[in-house]
Amino acid sequence: MKTATILSSVASMAFFGASVLYSCQSNGLEVNPDESIGALPLTVADPADNPRTPEKVALGKVLFYDPVLSGNQDVACATCHHPQFGYADGLDLPIGVGGEGLGKNRRFRAGQSAVFTRRNTPTLLNVGFNGIDARGQYNPSTAPMFYDLRAQSLEAQSLRPIAAFEEMRGTVFTETNAVDSVLARLRAIPAYQEQFRAVFGTGNAITAQNLGKALAAYERTLVANNAPFDRYRRGDASAMTEAQKRGMVLFIQNGCNACHSGPMFSDYKVHVLGVVDHEKLPESDAGKDNTYAFRTPTLRNVALTAPYMHNGKLASLPDVMTFYDVVTTGEQLNPRVPTSRLDSLLRPRVSLHNDLIQFLNALTDPGFDQSVPANVPSGLSVGGRLR
Ligand code: HEC
Ligand code: HEC
Repeated sequence: MKTATILSSVASMAFFGASVLYSCQSNGLEVNPDESIGALPLTVADPADNPRTPEKVALGKVLFYDPVLSGNQDVACATCHHPQFGYADGLDLPIGVGGEGLGKNRRFRAGQSAVFTRRNTPTLLNVGFNGIDARGQYNPSTAPMFYDLRAQSLEAQSLRPIAAFEEMRGTVFTETNAVDSVLARLRAIPAYQEQFRAVFGTGNAITAQNLGKALAAYERTLVANNAPFDRYRRGDASAMTEAQKRGMVLFIQNGCNACHSGPMFSDYKVHVLGVVDHEKLPESDAGKDNTYAFRTPTLRNVALTAPYMHNGKLASLPDVMTFYDVVTTGEQLNPRVPTSRLDSLLRPRVSLHNDLIQFLNALTDPGFDQSVPANVPSGLSVGGRLR
């Protein structure tokens, strides 16, 4: 079977193309790529108790950019999740409290103790699809969040950074009173009073629950679902280059889709890969339940969100490819993670090269919303201290 024939059958009829592909492999793959990877849906589902309205999204957006949510009123969600960096920050480890600057220019201010946030900032693009499986099923009320899956749903996740010391809280509030203190601040700002009331009704509209709902509603609009791969899988055979199509076959041949599956290229499960610890951190990050397992990250827009892995230890996609090269030979990379504990789905590689990276590039949709509000109701600097 010639590669060209395989590719065209994958293109026209992914299911059968895939079977053809497998039938000429002797490596015993069990995953069917038609079901294992695919285009994103055209729309994001809301939880039943948080339907989206334009007003709610607009409120969530100004909250997302407003540093009033942080202890020192200088860190916003957008400080770390910024459109210029694919709604991540371009850093290995984020700098929240005590920092200034945006992206690679972000640093600790003079006199501030350098306390890095311990994990790499994930993109928020398509985060409304978190938990989606290969059949396109997902439940936004229980959507998995974080590298160790410790929060479920965007509504629940969004209050956590406010209370996290190194992200937004600092020493101004305690962990238990952080959210309430922020709510008190919001209640003292007339524009927020009005907007919350217009969205959530009269009475005490500025509650933790409503703050979470507004942020979540906005995050569900951060969609990038028209990448070359999406257009290709929706039927436009010319949407991907020949190199990208070859890369897609390599992606499947090498078993990447055993974990990077579904329309988000994540199974939303945790796996032990044994990435080395980051020397900037005082302690080893042992992942979920101290097992060194981390959730499979999405590969959507991955070209925009270097550096990589849970602690940003790998600077570039070629570095990630080299990592898989080495780890699949059974070499021990993290001295705390014996090779016997590495995930059994990590298979020896057939071949990896530039085409695979080309395929990852086909998962980028640059047409996402990059608009930043001109100002925020608190009157503070939009996005935090970004200079
Ligand atoms: C200091 C940088 C920083 C700030 C500020 C910040 N985040 Fe994050 N965000 C992170 C990091 C790091 C993670 C991953 C943490 C982990 O997995 O343990 C994350 C994870 C998330 C996730 C989960 C994504 C996923 O796929 O699992 C969401 C959603 C999110 N942040 C939204 C927000 C919102 C909303 C705010 C503001 C209220 C915010 N973030 C503020 C750095 C930041
Ligand atoms: C056993 C499951 C598994 C397999 C197989 C696998 N990955 Fe991963 N991948 C992960 C997990 C888990 C991470 C995050 C690890 C961490 O942060 O410590 C990851 C991280 C990545 C990242 C970095 C993403 C980011 O935003 O940081 C890329 C790129 C990647 N994988 C590509 C691939 C490719 C290409 C293949 C096939 C050669 C592959 N993966 C095979 C589970 C897997």
